[in-house]
Amino acid sequence: MDYVVEMLNIRKEFTGIVANDDITIRLKRGEIHALLGENGAGKSTLMSILFGMYQADRGSIKVNGKEVRISNPNVANQMGIGMVHQHFKLVEDFTVTENIIMGSEPRKWLGLVMDTRKAGKKIEELSKQYGLNVDPYAKIEDISVGMQQRVEILKMLYRKAEVLILDEPTGVLTPQEVQELGRIMKNLIKEGKSIILITHKLKEIKAFADRCTVIRRGKTIGTVDVATTSEGAMAEMMVGRQVSFKVEKTDSVPGDVVLQVKSLTVRNSKKSLALNDFSLEVRAGEIVGIAGVEGNGQSDLVEAITGLRKAESGSIDLNGQNITAKSIRERIESGIGHIPEDRQKRGLILDYTLAENMVLEVYHREPFSRKGVLKNSAIRQYANRIIDSFDVRSGEGAVSAARSLSGGNQQKAIIGREIERNPLLLIAVQPTRGLDVGSIEYIHKRLIEHRDNGKAVLLISLELDEIMNLSDRIAIVNQGELIGVVNASETNENEIGLMMAGVKREEGA
Ligand SMILES: Nc1ncnc2c1ncn2[C@@H]1O[C@H](COP(=O)(O)OP(=O)(O)OP(=O)(O)O)[C@@H](O)[C@H]1O
Ligand SMILES: [Mg+2]
Repeated sequence: MDYVVEMLNIRKEFTGIVANDDITIRLKRGEIHALLGENGAGKSTLMSILFGMYQADRGSIKVNGKEVRISNPNVANQMGIGMVHQHFKLVEDFTVTENIIMGSEPRKWLGLVMDTRKAGKKIEELSKQYGLNVDPYAKIEDISVGMQQRVEILKMLYRKAEVLILDEPTGVLTPQEVQELGRIMKNLIKEGKSIILITHKLKEIKAFADRCTVIRRGKTIGTVDVATTSEGAMAEMMVGRQVSFKVEKTDSVPGDVVLQVKSLTVRNSKKSLALNDFSLEVRAGEIVGIAGVEGNGQSDLVEAITGLRKAESGSIDLNGQNITAKSIRERIESGIGHIPEDRQKRGLILDYTLAENMVLEVYHREPFSRKGVLKNSAIRQYANRIIDSFDVRSGEGAVSAARSLSGGNQQKAIIGREIERNPLLLIAVQPTRGLDVGSIEYIHKRLIEHRDNGKAVLLISLELDEIMNLSDRIAIVNQGELIGVVNASETNENEIGLMMAGVKREEGA
């Protein structure tokens, strides 16, 4: 059999946890091989070993049939292995070309001059060959996340990678961009590349992958042919039980208005109109979902409500109190909880422990501090409650550094922290992004429970399925304007899709 990469009986232990326990995965030449496993199963760790960032404690790696030692990422590059990380970072004020050649160009002229013109040309050719559609001279800060990811792919191609590792590439993409990535991956395969794809989306595995290896709590469960294996079967292999994809909920019983947004107008950082005369109400005991194509004012709305961005005109009331001019701190104190879009930038302080992160908003209050002195046992106890109920997995529990947690477990920690504070208004932005199907099922349950406790939930998600399944009412935005608000039980994906494109209900009917 023609395998490009074989990882055999890999073991990797961190303090308190065996992240990889005798894992075997074999990548055929020219295939898209999905790697599936719950949050914290050990996927990123395994791929970091293949990319030379970690050394396995045990086991071996073969590339093109020959046993190798991959002592660092440079060695991986030389062997034709490239990786796009789960949380990738490009230098914002550099161009695409500068980002791609950084660190790879042989340094001429005392390392000062890089031949950017030649590199730009080469990148342009590669972009064309694989249908990536990237402008080599654009600045990173001016291009979308989806485009930035394609820059990461170009970076691998520029270094002549034959094996491409994509760690949850679709987590940051819009549904349209996911389709685009699928097309690009097929192009790469056609040109003879081989791909390992990490994703939690069974639909994507079905649509893009040839085979799928499933791991659970660090152990290999098996490798299956995707065409002949159902989504349900793969989900069950992964979590070890049947998973319900349907959300169970009763009709909402809406109470008083908790959030009232009136004629809100907001400008974005580039001074253009992001929200225009936008009004919306969220009552106690209901979940209102915002549906819209990315970049139509959703982030600006959330930033305005949470106090990260100033309103140009209009007002925001919380529980009858005008909070339009209040500080972020005051808004949190008056009952707003926020599961932010960017969990690494706004959600967690990565160098703090998990316990410290769980009390970021409440540490100055009793019982977490008394007379200005932190009460560590109370903090630890509170953190442990969140860790238990939200199944936040880590090596050392409450004292683990937030940075050491897997992507999905960081996300579960943030959600747990925000729900546990029991806010009057919970703003959940892409709450289940990066979560495995079992965790999604649980988080959906908790959001509905929060509603049933008489709290208000504002849900922002790019996934129409999630909006349709969880919301009681759906508000549709297009270019910063409210197109309409509909009852979830009286609409369908088609109608919402049309409204997202800017067609108002009367016109569409
Ligand atoms: N550098 C590290 N130090 C300590 N523990 C770590 C480190 N890296 C990973 N771990 C632990 O190893 C386990 C596996 O993590 P990994 O990131 O491989 O999971 P994953 O399968 O990629 O999960 P996700 O789907 O959430 O991204 C986790 O419990 C994590 O806390
Ligand atoms: Mg991961």
